[in-house]
Amino acid sequence: MSESTAAFLYLVSGVLFILALRGLSHPTTSRQGNVMGMVGMAIAVLTTLFLAEPSFGGLLLIVVGIAIGGTAGAVIARRIAMTAMPQLVAAFHSLVGLAAVMVAAAALYAPESMGIGTIGAIHGQALVEMSIGVAIGAITFTGSVIAFLKLDGRMSGKPIMLPSRHAINIALGILLVVLVVWFAASESHVLFWLIVLVSLALGVLLIVPIGGADMPVVVSMLNSYSGWAAAGIGFTLQNLALIITGALVGSSGAILSYIMCKGMNRSFVSVILGGFGGDSGPAGGEDMGDRTIKQGSAEDAAYLMANASKVIIVPGYGMAVAQAQHALREMADKLKEAGVEVKYAIHPVAGRMPGHMNVLLAEANVPYDDVFELEDINSEFSQSDVAFVIGANDVTNPAARDDKSSPIYGMPILNVDQAQTCLFVKRSLGSGYAGIDNTLFYKDNTMMLLADAKKMVEDIVKALDR
Ligand code: TAP
Repeated sequence: MSESTAAFLYLVSGVLFILALRGLSHPTTSRQGNVMGMVGMAIAVLTTLFLAEPSFGGLLLIVVGIAIGGTAGAVIARRIAMTAMPQLVAAFHSLVGLAAVMVAAAALYAPESMGIGTIGAIHGQALVEMSIGVAIGAITFTGSVIAFLKLDGRMSGKPIMLPSRHAINIALGILLVVLVVWFAASESHVLFWLIVLVSLALGVLLIVPIGGADMPVVVSMLNSYSGWAAAGIGFTLQNLALIITGALVGSSGAILSYIMCKGMNRSFVSVILGGFGGDSGPAGGEDMGDRTIKQGSAEDAAYLMANASKVIIVPGYGMAVAQAQHALREMADKLKEAGVEVKYAIHPVAGRMPGHMNVLLAEANVPYDDVFELEDINSEFSQSDVAFVIGANDVTNPAARDDKSSPIYGMPILNVDQAQTCLFVKRSLGSGYAGIDNTLFYKDNTMMLLADAKKMVEDIVKALDR
Protein backbone atom coordinates (compact mmCIF):
# COMPACT_ATOMS: atom_id res chain seq x y z
CA MET A 1 0.00 0.00 0.00
CA SER A 2 1.32 3.46 -0.90
CA GLU A 3 2.03 6.07 1.78
CA SER A 4 -0.60 8.45 0.34
CA THR A 5 -3.34 5.77 0.31
CA ALA A 6 -2.46 4.96 3.93
CA ALA A 7 -2.58 8.66 4.88
CA PHE A 8 -6.02 8.93 3.26
CA LEU A 9 -7.32 5.86 5.11
CA TYR A 10 -5.90 7.14 8.42
CA LEU A 11 -7.75 10.39 7.77
CA VAL A 12 -10.97 8.42 7.19
CA SER A 13 -10.50 6.60 10.48
CA GLY A 14 -9.79 9.94 12.22
CA VAL A 15 -13.07 11.36 10.89
CA LEU A 16 -14.89 8.21 12.07
CA PHE A 17 -13.39 8.66 15.57
CA ILE A 18 -14.65 12.26 15.68
CA LEU A 19 -18.12 11.11 14.56
CA ALA A 20 -17.94 8.37 17.22
CA LEU A 21 -17.31 10.97 19.93
CA ARG A 22 -20.21 13.01 18.61
CA GLY A 23 -22.47 9.92 18.64
CA LEU A 24 -21.46 9.03 22.19
CA SER A 25 -22.63 12.43 23.44
CA HIS A 26 -26.28 11.29 23.51
CA PRO A 27 -27.90 7.98 24.55
CA THR A 28 -29.98 7.80 21.36
CA THR A 29 -26.93 7.94 19.10
CA SER A 30 -24.38 6.20 21.36
CA ARG A 31 -24.68 2.75 19.73
CA GLN A 32 -24.15 4.32 16.32
CA GLY A 33 -21.16 6.22 17.77
CA ASN A 34 -19.70 2.98 19.11
CA VAL A 35 -20.04 1.31 15.70
CA MET A 36 -18.31 4.25 13.99
CA GLY A 37 -15.45 4.03 16.49
CA MET A 38 -15.09 0.29 15.86
CA VAL A 39 -15.10 0.71 12.07
CA GLY A 40 -12.55 3.55 12.38
CA MET A 41 -10.29 1.37 14.54
CA ALA A 42 -10.61 -1.60 12.13
CA ILE A 43 -9.61 0.65 9.19
CA ALA A 44 -6.64 2.04 11.15
CA VAL A 45 -5.40 -1.43 12.19
CA LEU A 46 -5.77 -2.95 8.71
CA THR A 47 -4.12 0.06 7.05
CA THR A 48 -1.15 -0.24 9.43
CA LEU A 49 -0.89 -3.96 8.65
CA PHE A 50 -0.97 -3.46 4.86
CA LEU A 51 1.44 -0.53 5.08
CA ALA A 52 3.97 -2.39 7.24
CA GLU A 53 3.75 -5.64 5.21
CA PRO A 54 5.05 -7.77 8.10
CA SER A 55 6.80 -11.12 7.56
CA PHE A 56 4.79 -14.30 8.10
CA GLY A 57 6.24 -14.66 11.60
CA GLY A 58 5.44 -11.03 12.42
CA LEU A 59 1.91 -11.38 11.10
CA LEU A 60 1.42 -14.52 13.19
CA LEU A 61 2.55 -12.66 16.32
CA ILE A 62 0.15 -9.80 15.57
CA VAL A 63 -2.79 -12.16 14.97
CA VAL A 64 -2.04 -14.11 18.17
CA GLY A 65 -1.74 -10.79 20.08
CA ILE A 66 -5.07 -9.55 18.73
CA ALA A 67 -6.73 -12.89 19.55
CA ILE A 68 -5.45 -12.91 23.15
CA GLY A 69 -6.23 -9.22 23.75
CA GLY A 70 -9.59 -9.41 21.97
CA THR A 71 -10.68 -12.48 23.93
CA ALA A 72 -9.61 -10.97 27.26
CA GLY A 73 -11.41 -7.70 26.37
CA ALA A 74 -14.62 -9.48 25.35
CA VAL A 75 -14.69 -11.65 28.50
CA ILE A 76 -14.02 -8.67 30.81
CA ALA A 77 -16.61 -6.49 29.03
CA ARG A 78 -19.28 -9.17 29.51
CA ARG A 79 -18.46 -9.84 33.15
CA ILE A 80 -17.81 -6.36 34.48
CA ALA A 81 -20.48 -4.76 36.69
CA MET A 82 -21.56 -1.25 35.70
CA THR A 83 -20.44 0.03 39.14
CA ALA A 84 -16.93 -1.27 38.53
CA MET A 85 -16.54 0.62 35.25
CA PRO A 86 -14.34 3.46 36.63
CA GLN A 87 -11.72 1.01 37.95
CA LEU A 88 -11.86 -0.98 34.71
CA VAL A 89 -11.16 2.19 32.75
CA ALA A 90 -8.26 2.95 35.12
CA ALA A 91 -6.88 -0.57 34.60
CA PHE A 92 -7.14 -0.21 30.81
CA HIS A 93 -5.38 3.16 30.91
CA SER A 94 -2.50 1.56 32.74
CA LEU A 95 -2.11 -0.77 29.74
CA VAL A 96 -2.09 2.19 27.34
CA GLY A 97 0.70 3.75 29.40
CA LEU A 98 2.65 0.49 29.44
CA ALA A 99 2.18 0.11 25.68
CA ALA A 100 3.64 3.61 25.16
CA VAL A 101 6.72 2.60 27.21
CA MET A 102 7.15 -0.62 25.24
CA VAL A 103 6.75 1.02 21.82
CA ALA A 104 9.34 3.63 22.80
CA ALA A 105 11.71 0.88 24.00
CA ALA A 106 11.18 -0.98 20.72
CA ALA A 107 11.99 2.20 18.81
CA LEU A 108 15.18 2.64 20.86
CA TYR A 109 16.42 -0.92 20.31
CA ALA A 110 15.27 -1.33 16.68
CA PRO A 111 15.16 2.18 15.17
CA GLU A 112 15.67 0.91 11.59
CA SER A 113 12.37 -0.96 11.69
CA MET A 114 10.62 2.32 12.43
CA GLY A 115 12.55 4.44 9.97
CA ILE A 116 14.06 6.77 12.59
CA GLY A 117 17.75 6.07 11.99
CA THR A 118 20.09 3.38 13.27
CA ILE A 119 21.30 2.37 16.74
CA GLY A 120 23.63 5.12 17.99
CA ALA A 121 22.36 7.48 15.27
CA ILE A 122 18.64 7.90 15.95
CA HIS A 123 17.30 11.24 14.66
CA GLY A 124 17.39 13.91 17.39
CA GLN A 125 13.72 14.81 16.98
CA ALA A 126 12.71 11.15 17.38
CA LEU A 127 14.76 10.89 20.60
CA VAL A 128 12.95 13.90 22.10
CA GLU A 129 9.51 12.57 21.10
CA MET A 130 10.43 9.10 22.32
CA SER A 131 11.58 10.33 25.74
CA ILE A 132 8.53 12.56 26.29
CA GLY A 133 6.21 9.74 25.17
CA VAL A 134 7.90 7.21 27.44
CA ALA A 135 7.78 9.61 30.43
CA ILE A 136 4.05 10.31 30.02
CA GLY A 137 3.43 6.60 29.38
CA ALA A 138 5.24 5.50 32.57
CA ILE A 139 3.48 8.18 34.69
CA THR A 140 0.14 7.02 33.22
CA PHE A 141 1.00 3.39 33.99
CA THR A 142 1.72 3.68 37.72
CA GLY A 143 -0.80 6.52 38.22
CA SER A 144 -3.54 4.35 36.69
CA VAL A 145 -2.53 1.33 38.77
CA ILE A 146 -2.87 3.43 41.98
CA ALA A 147 -6.21 4.83 40.73
CA PHE A 148 -7.40 1.26 40.03
CA LEU A 149 -6.34 0.06 43.51
CA LYS A 150 -8.11 2.99 45.19
CA LEU A 151 -11.31 2.72 43.15
CA ASP A 152 -11.46 -1.04 43.57
CA GLY A 153 -11.11 -0.73 47.36
CA ARG A 154 -7.82 -2.70 47.36
CA MET A 155 -6.13 0.38 48.79
CA SER A 156 -7.60 3.01 51.12
CA GLY A 157 -9.39 5.81 49.25
CA LYS A 158 -8.06 8.30 51.80
CA PRO A 159 -5.47 10.77 50.55
CA ILE A 160 -1.93 9.69 51.51
CA MET A 161 -0.07 12.90 52.26
CA LEU A 162 3.71 12.43 52.24
CA PRO A 163 5.71 15.15 53.99
CA SER A 164 7.22 17.66 51.51
CA ARG A 165 5.44 15.91 48.67
CA HIS A 166 5.24 19.04 46.51
CA ALA A 167 9.00 19.61 46.89
CA ILE A 168 9.69 15.93 46.04
CA ASN A 169 7.43 16.08 42.98
CA ILE A 170 8.98 19.32 41.73
CA ALA A 171 12.49 17.88 42.22
CA LEU A 172 11.54 14.72 40.32
CA GLY A 173 9.93 16.83 37.58
CA ILE A 174 13.13 18.87 37.15
CA LEU A 175 15.21 15.67 37.19
CA LEU A 176 12.96 14.27 34.46
CA VAL A 177 13.50 17.32 32.22
CA VAL A 178 17.29 17.07 32.73
CA LEU A 179 17.22 13.35 31.88
CA VAL A 180 15.13 13.94 28.73
CA VAL A 181 17.54 16.61 27.46
CA TRP A 182 20.59 14.48 28.34
CA PHE A 183 19.07 11.39 26.67
CA ALA A 184 18.20 13.34 23.51
CA ALA A 185 21.83 14.44 23.30
CA SER A 186 23.42 11.06 24.10
CA GLU A 187 20.95 8.29 23.13
CA SER A 188 22.12 6.47 26.25
CA HIS A 189 20.06 3.37 27.04
CA VAL A 190 20.79 3.79 30.76
CA LEU A 191 19.31 7.30 30.68
CA PHE A 192 16.25 5.97 28.84
CA TRP A 193 15.54 3.49 31.64
CA LEU A 194 16.27 6.16 34.26
CA ILE A 195 13.55 8.30 32.62
CA VAL A 196 11.23 5.30 32.91
CA LEU A 197 12.11 4.77 36.61
CA VAL A 198 11.67 8.43 37.60
CA SER A 199 8.37 8.63 35.69
CA LEU A 200 7.06 5.45 37.34
CA ALA A 201 7.83 6.96 40.76
CA LEU A 202 6.23 10.27 39.77
CA GLY A 203 3.04 8.46 38.69
CA VAL A 204 2.70 6.92 42.16
CA LEU A 205 3.56 10.12 44.02
CA LEU A 206 1.16 12.25 41.98
CA ILE A 207 -1.85 10.00 42.57
CA VAL A 208 -1.52 8.74 46.19
CA PRO A 209 -2.41 12.12 47.76
CA ILE A 210 -5.65 12.29 45.77
CA GLY A 211 -8.72 11.11 47.71
CA GLY A 212 -11.35 8.65 46.52
CA ALA A 213 -13.93 11.38 45.81
CA ASP A 214 -11.69 12.93 43.19
CA MET A 215 -10.60 9.63 41.65
CA PRO A 216 -13.03 9.72 38.68
CA VAL A 217 -11.53 13.08 37.68
CA VAL A 218 -8.07 11.54 37.98
CA VAL A 219 -9.07 8.59 35.80
CA SER A 220 -10.25 10.97 33.11
CA MET A 221 -7.06 13.02 33.51
CA LEU A 222 -4.94 9.86 33.12
CA ASN A 223 -7.05 9.04 30.08
CA SER A 224 -5.97 12.39 28.71
CA TYR A 225 -2.29 11.66 29.54
CA SER A 226 -2.48 8.28 27.82
CA GLY A 227 -3.80 10.04 24.71
CA TRP A 228 -0.92 12.51 24.68
CA ALA A 229 1.54 9.63 25.24
CA ALA A 230 0.07 7.87 22.20
CA ALA A 231 0.27 11.09 20.15
CA GLY A 232 3.94 11.51 21.17
CA ILE A 233 4.73 7.98 20.02
CA GLY A 234 2.73 8.71 16.85
CA PHE A 235 5.17 11.52 16.00
CA THR A 236 8.13 9.16 16.61
CA LEU A 237 6.64 6.53 14.32
CA GLN A 238 5.28 9.18 11.92
CA ASN A 239 1.94 7.43 12.19
CA LEU A 240 -0.92 9.81 11.35
CA ALA A 241 -3.61 7.58 12.90
CA LEU A 242 -1.78 7.46 16.23
CA ILE A 243 -1.31 11.23 16.25
CA ILE A 244 -4.99 11.92 15.47
CA THR A 245 -6.32 9.31 17.92
CA GLY A 246 -3.89 10.35 20.65
CA ALA A 247 -4.84 14.01 20.27
CA LEU A 248 -8.57 13.12 20.35
CA VAL A 249 -8.17 11.02 23.50
CA GLY A 250 -5.90 13.64 25.06
CA SER A 251 -8.24 16.55 24.45
CA SER A 252 -11.51 14.71 25.20
CA GLY A 253 -10.04 13.41 28.50
CA ALA A 254 -8.99 16.94 29.44
CA ILE A 255 -12.44 18.34 28.55
CA LEU A 256 -14.15 15.59 30.57
CA SER A 257 -11.95 16.33 33.60
CA TYR A 258 -12.93 19.99 33.28
CA ILE A 259 -16.65 19.14 33.07
CA MET A 260 -16.41 16.92 36.18
CA CYS A 261 -14.54 19.60 38.13
CA LYS A 262 -17.23 22.09 37.13
CA GLY A 263 -19.98 19.64 38.24
CA MET A 264 -18.33 19.44 41.68
CA ASN A 265 -17.31 23.12 41.73
CA ARG A 266 -13.67 22.08 42.28
CA SER A 267 -10.72 23.62 40.54
CA PHE A 268 -8.55 21.32 38.47
CA VAL A 269 -5.49 22.46 40.44
CA SER A 270 -7.10 21.60 43.80
CA VAL A 271 -7.86 18.09 42.49
CA ILE A 272 -4.28 17.59 41.30
CA LEU A 273 -2.82 18.88 44.58
CA GLY A 274 -4.87 16.22 46.40
CA GLY A 275 -6.02 15.89 49.99
CA PHE A 276 -9.79 15.98 49.41
CA GLY A 277 -12.26 13.23 50.34
CA GLY A 278 -11.73 9.66 51.38
CA ASP A 279 -13.56 6.43 51.96
CA SER A 280 -17.33 6.54 52.30
CA GLY A 281 -18.51 7.70 55.70
CA PRO A 282 -20.02 5.62 58.45
CA ALA A 283 -22.74 3.28 57.27
CA GLY A 284 -24.54 3.19 60.56
CA GLY A 285 -25.18 6.89 61.10
CA GLU A 286 -22.81 7.14 64.07
CA ASP A 287 -22.62 10.90 63.69
CA MET A 288 -26.38 11.28 64.09
CA GLY A 289 -26.16 12.94 67.51
CA ASP A 290 -29.58 13.42 69.08
CA ARG A 291 -31.30 14.34 65.83
CA THR A 292 -34.35 12.31 64.92
CA ILE A 293 -35.56 11.05 61.58
CA LYS A 294 -38.97 10.17 60.22
CA GLN A 295 -38.83 6.62 58.92
CA GLY A 296 -41.42 5.21 56.54
CA SER A 297 -42.34 1.95 54.85
CA ALA A 298 -42.92 0.90 51.26
CA GLU A 299 -46.67 1.25 51.87
CA ASP A 300 -46.22 4.85 53.09
CA ALA A 301 -44.17 5.68 50.01
CA ALA A 302 -46.68 4.02 47.66
CA TYR A 303 -49.56 5.94 49.27
CA LEU A 304 -47.75 9.29 49.04
CA MET A 305 -46.74 8.82 45.42
CA ALA A 306 -50.03 7.35 44.20
CA ASN A 307 -51.77 10.45 45.55
CA ALA A 308 -49.24 12.88 44.10
CA SER A 309 -49.69 14.76 40.86
CA LYS A 310 -45.94 15.14 40.22
CA VAL A 311 -43.03 12.93 41.31
CA ILE A 312 -39.37 13.62 40.47
CA ILE A 313 -37.01 10.66 40.78
CA VAL A 314 -33.36 11.39 41.68
CA PRO A 315 -31.12 8.37 41.11
CA GLY A 316 -27.60 8.11 42.53
CA TYR A 317 -24.76 5.68 43.05
CA GLY A 318 -26.83 3.45 45.40
CA MET A 319 -29.30 2.72 42.59
CA ALA A 320 -26.40 1.43 40.51
CA VAL A 321 -25.09 -0.70 43.40
CA ALA A 322 -28.53 -2.20 43.99
CA GLN A 323 -29.26 -2.53 40.25
CA ALA A 324 -32.67 -1.06 41.00
CA GLN A 325 -33.20 0.62 37.62
CA HIS A 326 -35.59 -2.00 36.18
CA ALA A 327 -37.77 -2.08 39.31
CA LEU A 328 -37.66 1.73 39.32
CA ARG A 329 -38.98 1.92 35.76
CA GLU A 330 -41.77 -0.49 36.69
CA MET A 331 -42.66 1.76 39.63
CA ALA A 332 -42.66 4.84 37.39
CA ASP A 333 -44.86 3.05 34.82
CA LYS A 334 -47.41 2.18 37.49
CA LEU A 335 -47.47 5.76 38.77
CA LYS A 336 -47.92 7.07 35.22
CA GLU A 337 -50.80 4.64 34.67
CA ALA A 338 -52.39 6.16 37.77
CA GLY A 339 -52.10 9.62 36.18
CA VAL A 340 -49.02 10.84 38.08
CA GLU A 341 -46.49 12.95 36.18
CA VAL A 342 -43.08 11.28 36.61
CA LYS A 343 -39.71 12.77 35.68
CA TYR A 344 -36.09 11.80 36.36
CA ALA A 345 -33.51 14.38 37.47
CA ILE A 346 -29.85 13.64 36.74
CA HIS A 347 -27.00 15.44 38.47
CA PRO A 348 -23.85 15.75 36.29
CA VAL A 349 -21.73 13.82 38.85
CA ALA A 350 -24.37 11.37 40.15
CA GLY A 351 -22.89 7.88 40.39
CA ARG A 352 -19.24 7.30 39.73
CA MET A 353 -18.67 8.24 36.12
CA PRO A 354 -20.05 10.70 33.60
CA GLY A 355 -23.41 9.58 32.25
CA HIS A 356 -23.57 6.71 34.78
CA MET A 357 -27.25 7.25 35.59
CA ASN A 358 -28.25 7.90 31.96
CA VAL A 359 -26.73 4.57 30.93
CA LEU A 360 -28.54 2.65 33.69
CA LEU A 361 -31.89 4.29 32.95
CA ALA A 362 -31.44 3.66 29.22
CA GLU A 363 -30.68 0.02 30.03
CA ALA A 364 -34.06 -0.15 31.80
CA ASN A 365 -35.77 1.46 28.76
CA VAL A 366 -36.71 4.64 30.58
CA PRO A 367 -37.92 7.05 27.84
CA TYR A 368 -35.26 9.71 27.11
CA ASP A 369 -37.96 12.38 27.21
CA ASP A 370 -38.54 11.68 30.92
CA VAL A 371 -34.90 12.27 31.84
CA PHE A 372 -33.73 15.83 32.63
CA GLU A 373 -30.40 17.44 33.44
CA LEU A 374 -29.96 19.45 36.65
CA GLU A 375 -30.30 22.90 35.10
CA ASP A 376 -33.46 21.92 33.21
CA ILE A 377 -35.37 20.48 36.16
CA ASN A 378 -34.08 22.13 39.32
CA SER A 379 -36.77 24.81 39.30
CA GLU A 380 -39.50 22.12 39.19
CA PHE A 381 -38.84 20.58 42.64
CA SER A 382 -40.73 23.41 44.34
CA GLN A 383 -43.84 22.50 42.31
CA SER A 384 -43.60 18.74 42.86
CA ASP A 385 -45.30 16.67 45.54
CA VAL A 386 -42.60 14.06 45.96
CA ALA A 387 -38.85 13.95 45.33
CA PHE A 388 -37.95 10.25 45.29
CA VAL A 389 -34.21 10.11 46.00
CA ILE A 390 -32.92 6.61 45.34
CA GLY A 391 -29.34 5.85 46.33
CA ALA A 392 -28.25 9.48 45.89
CA ASN A 393 -26.75 11.50 48.68
CA ASP A 394 -24.01 14.09 48.01
CA VAL A 395 -25.79 15.44 44.93
CA THR A 396 -28.71 16.50 47.17
CA ASN A 397 -26.71 17.69 50.20
CA PRO A 398 -27.78 21.27 51.07
CA ALA A 399 -24.37 21.81 52.75
CA ALA A 400 -23.06 22.38 49.22
CA ARG A 401 -25.51 25.26 48.87
CA ASP A 402 -25.71 26.69 52.40
CA ASP A 403 -22.60 25.81 54.44
CA LYS A 404 -19.56 27.84 53.44
CA SER A 405 -17.29 25.68 55.62
CA SER A 406 -18.33 22.44 53.87
CA PRO A 407 -15.71 20.84 51.58
CA ILE A 408 -18.40 20.48 48.90
CA TYR A 409 -19.59 24.10 49.23
CA GLY A 410 -20.37 25.51 45.80
CA MET A 411 -21.20 22.20 44.11
CA PRO A 412 -24.55 22.62 42.38
CA ILE A 413 -27.17 20.32 43.95
CA LEU A 414 -30.61 19.05 43.05
CA ASN A 415 -33.05 21.03 45.23
CA VAL A 416 -34.98 17.98 46.46
CA ASP A 417 -35.68 19.66 49.80
CA GLN A 418 -38.00 22.08 47.98
CA ALA A 419 -40.45 19.29 47.09
CA GLN A 420 -43.45 18.91 49.38
CA THR A 421 -42.13 15.54 50.60
CA CYS A 422 -38.70 14.11 50.10
CA LEU A 423 -38.36 10.32 50.18
CA PHE A 424 -34.83 9.00 50.69
CA VAL A 425 -34.14 5.37 49.78
CA LYS A 426 -30.83 4.20 51.27
CA ARG A 427 -29.70 1.56 53.73
CA SER A 428 -28.54 3.75 56.60
CA LEU A 429 -27.89 7.33 57.64
CA GLY A 430 -24.30 7.00 56.47
CA SER A 431 -22.69 9.62 54.27
CA GLY A 432 -22.01 9.49 50.53
CA TYR A 433 -18.77 9.43 48.58
CA ALA A 434 -17.52 12.79 49.87
CA GLY A 435 -17.89 11.51 53.46
CA ILE A 436 -20.12 14.39 54.57
CA ASP A 437 -23.22 14.15 56.76
CA ASN A 438 -26.48 15.09 55.01
CA THR A 439 -28.79 17.28 57.13
CA LEU A 440 -31.73 16.59 54.79
CA PHE A 441 -32.32 13.22 56.50
CA TYR A 442 -33.47 15.04 59.64
CA LYS A 443 -35.80 17.58 58.02
CA ASP A 444 -39.53 17.61 58.74
CA ASN A 445 -40.56 17.00 55.14
CA THR A 446 -38.12 14.08 54.67
CA MET A 447 -39.14 10.45 55.08
CA MET A 448 -36.32 7.91 55.21
CA LEU A 449 -36.97 4.55 53.52
CA LEU A 450 -34.08 2.59 54.97
CA ALA A 451 -33.49 -0.50 52.82
CA ASP A 452 -31.64 -1.81 49.82
CA ALA A 453 -32.84 0.29 46.87
CA LYS A 454 -34.02 -2.62 44.71
CA LYS A 455 -35.85 -4.35 47.57
CA MET A 456 -37.57 -1.12 48.61
CA VAL A 457 -38.71 -0.27 45.06
CA GLU A 458 -39.98 -3.83 44.50
CA ASP A 459 -41.97 -3.53 47.74
CA ILE A 460 -43.38 -0.16 46.63
CA VAL A 461 -44.45 -1.73 43.31
CA LYS A 462 -46.24 -4.50 45.24
CA ALA A 463 -47.90 -1.90 47.49
CA LEU A 464 -49.03 0.08 44.42
CA ASP A 465 -50.70 -3.11 43.08
CA ARG A 466 -52.76 -3.56 46.23
P1 TAP B 1 -23.18 9.22 46.94
O1 TAP B 1 -23.14 10.57 47.52
O2 TAP B 1 -21.93 8.43 46.86
O3 TAP B 1 -24.27 8.41 47.80
C1 TAP B 1 -24.69 7.16 47.41
C2 TAP B 1 -25.56 6.62 48.52
O4 TAP B 1 -26.09 5.39 48.05
C3 TAP B 1 -24.79 6.32 49.78
O5 TAP B 1 -24.99 7.32 50.76
C4 TAP B 1 -25.32 4.94 50.23
O6 TAP B 1 -25.94 5.07 51.50
C5 TAP B 1 -26.38 4.60 49.18
N1 TAP B 1 -26.34 3.21 48.79
C6 TAP B 1 -25.28 2.43 48.51
N2 TAP B 1 -25.66 1.20 48.20
C7 TAP B 1 -27.01 1.18 48.28
C8 TAP B 1 -27.99 0.17 48.08
N3 TAP B 1 -27.67 -1.08 47.74
N4 TAP B 1 -29.29 0.52 48.26
C9 TAP B 1 -29.63 1.76 48.63
N5 TAP B 1 -28.74 2.75 48.82
C10 TAP B 1 -27.45 2.45 48.65
O7 TAP B 1 -23.80 9.21 45.47
P2 TAP B 1 -24.33 10.38 44.55
O8 TAP B 1 -25.35 11.20 45.27
O9 TAP B 1 -24.67 9.72 43.27
O10 TAP B 1 -23.07 11.32 44.36
C11 TAP B 1 -21.95 10.93 43.60
C12 TAP B 1 -20.65 11.24 44.33
O11 TAP B 1 -19.54 10.77 43.55
C13 TAP B 1 -20.44 12.72 44.55
O12 TAP B 1 -19.74 12.95 45.74
C14 TAP B 1 -19.58 13.08 43.36
O13 TAP B 1 -18.82 14.27 43.56
C15 TAP B 1 -18.68 11.87 43.30
N6 TAP B 1 -18.08 11.85 41.96
C16 TAP B 1 -18.82 11.46 40.89
C17 TAP B 1 -18.28 11.58 39.62
C18 TAP B 1 -19.09 11.24 38.42
S1 TAP B 1 -18.50 11.66 37.02
N7 TAP B 1 -20.25 10.68 38.53
C19 TAP B 1 -17.00 12.05 39.44
C20 TAP B 1 -16.27 12.43 40.57
C21 TAP B 1 -16.83 12.31 41.81
P3 TAP B 1 -26.06 3.79 52.45
O14 TAP B 1 -24.70 3.24 52.62
O15 TAP B 1 -26.67 4.34 53.68
O16 TAP B 1 -26.99 2.83 51.75
